[in-house]
Amino acid sequence: MKENSKNITRRSFIGTTGTIAAGLTILPNSVISGLGHRAPSDKLNIAVVGIGGMGNSNLRAVKGTENIVALCDVDWGYSKEVFAANPEAKPYWDWRKMYDEMGKSIDAVIVATADHSHAVVAANGMKMGKHVYVQKPLTHSVYESRLLTKLAAKYKVATQMGNQGSSDEGVNQTIEWLQNGEIGDVRKVEAFTDRPIWPQGLNVPKGEWVPETLNWDLFIGPAKMRPYNSLYTPWNWRGWWDFGTGALGDMACHILHPVFKGLKLQYPIKAQGSSTLLLTDCAPNAQMVTLVYPERVTSKKDKMKLPQVEVIWYDGGLQPPKPTGWPAGKNMNDGGGAVIFHGTKDKLICGCYGKDPWLLSDRKPVVPKTERRIENAMRGGHEMDWVRACKESPETRVKSKSDFSEAGPFNEMVVMGVLAVRLQGLNKELEWNGEKMEFTNIGPEDKVRLTISDNFTIIDGDPKFNRPNLTLNAQEFASEMIKHTYRQGFSLPDMPA
Ligand SMILES: NC(=O)c1ccc[n+]([C@@H]2O[C@H](COP(=O)([O-])OP(=O)(O)OC[C@H]3O[C@@H](n4cnc5c(N)ncnc54)[C@H](O)[C@@H]3O)[C@@H](O)[C@H]2O)c1
Repeated sequence: MKENSKNITRRSFIGTTGTIAAGLTILPNSVISGLGHRAPSDKLNIAVVGIGGMGNSNLRAVKGTENIVALCDVDWGYSKEVFAANPEAKPYWDWRKMYDEMGKSIDAVIVATADHSHAVVAANGMKMGKHVYVQKPLTHSVYESRLLTKLAAKYKVATQMGNQGSSDEGVNQTIEWLQNGEIGDVRKVEAFTDRPIWPQGLNVPKGEWVPETLNWDLFIGPAKMRPYNSLYTPWNWRGWWDFGTGALGDMACHILHPVFKGLKLQYPIKAQGSSTLLLTDCAPNAQMVTLVYPERVTSKKDKMKLPQVEVIWYDGGLQPPKPTGWPAGKNMNDGGGAVIFHGTKDKLICGCYGKDPWLLSDRKPVVPKTERRIENAMRGGHEMDWVRACKESPETRVKSKSDFSEAGPFNEMVVMGVLAVRLQGLNKELEWNGEKMEFTNIGPEDKVRLTISDNFTIIDGDPKFNRPNLTLNAQEFASEMIKHTYRQGFSLPDMPA
């Protein structure tokens, strides 16, 4: 029978998890059970939340060696086969009930829900001492990214964002080439994706009857309630601002990772976005975002300087101009996108996931291997790197390849792109204070006008557009996007100091 989130009150959830958290103090089961770590042969008890799509791939990657003890999904039609294939795991509709009932026996949680519910599941899991593997983009907002980063450090749990390319050879090589000074200093980077490959630029659809097998209330989770339509879930939630992060959020965690890591970025200082028609609810068909990062401290072993750098993003079919010397006829799109690093000595180009880096000069660099290598990174190796980290003692743990200490700040870059696009109506370069998580040049009187829906009629060949709009206070709109107000029944742990 479908379970309603109302059956589990906020009080019972917080009450029980609070007790468990207090009982565990800050330590996960794995720490309590032994000398601070598990033998690699000990199996983890893993729960998976969001199993109908990518969650099933993550599950299969760890199932061979670990115990899958609980599965949670809000759509038992879409996830039917995954539940059926894992009869040993206790099935749930509501991750809060799962934590309440099985908190003590779960060591680690994989989160592969729609973007807007990653943070609330992961943060409450970490508060209970659970290791977490969270799909990309790590979170839906800047505040949530910062929170997950700090909770991971506070509770000393093993973490991994699901940008599996970060464990793959292309990212390793791109980082090594950059940091070995092969292209000199980088002041400009351009990147793009060929997404969206799901519908975007749409008006809000009319409500439909909710299928028997879906708990819409639980899908909505921390977001604002809206009438169900099959356009939202499964999968196509990506294009709806309340649930997804558009093409940029979907792909930038794969494509920009070698940029963030290779150039040692932290918080941007400026952001600017533009797009095709911007609607209140649905992401635009194509976007362009420019983020500016300040000069970074160069370490003694760096063979390049780290001056201020501009990172320019394109999606929806837009691509950066081909640089002079680009091989005629060569498709820039390599596996869903590409990156061009403009160096003072050369240009480095790589595909999605840092795939197959090459230099525009066609020189073939031979550089020392400084990055840790992961076997079968894209075929379960990334997940198993996290499993390995879960079993190591926090004091000596080798961080997984996309540990939240890096993935958190990196994800802030990705969600900053969404902010830049949604605030484009301010018609200015936005200035960002990363430490404080606030724009410093949006005034209390600034307004943004957004289009609610895009309609037209043609009368005698003359198109008449009808685009009702909404004017919002820009500071309030920005604050809400930086830190969402959660719907009743869903809350985050406090931000650690
Ligand atoms: N790393 C990758 O290559 C990769 C590929 C695809 C998707 N993803 C990411 O994985 C996540 C899921 O994407 P997808 O394509 O699998 O989407 P999907 O819609 O196909 O699957 C999501 C599943 O989560 C369930 N779900 C949604 N909200 C839930 C909740 N609150 N509690 C429990 N279950 C819930 C849905 O019913 C569905 O079964 C996204 O963050 C996406 O960006 C990553």
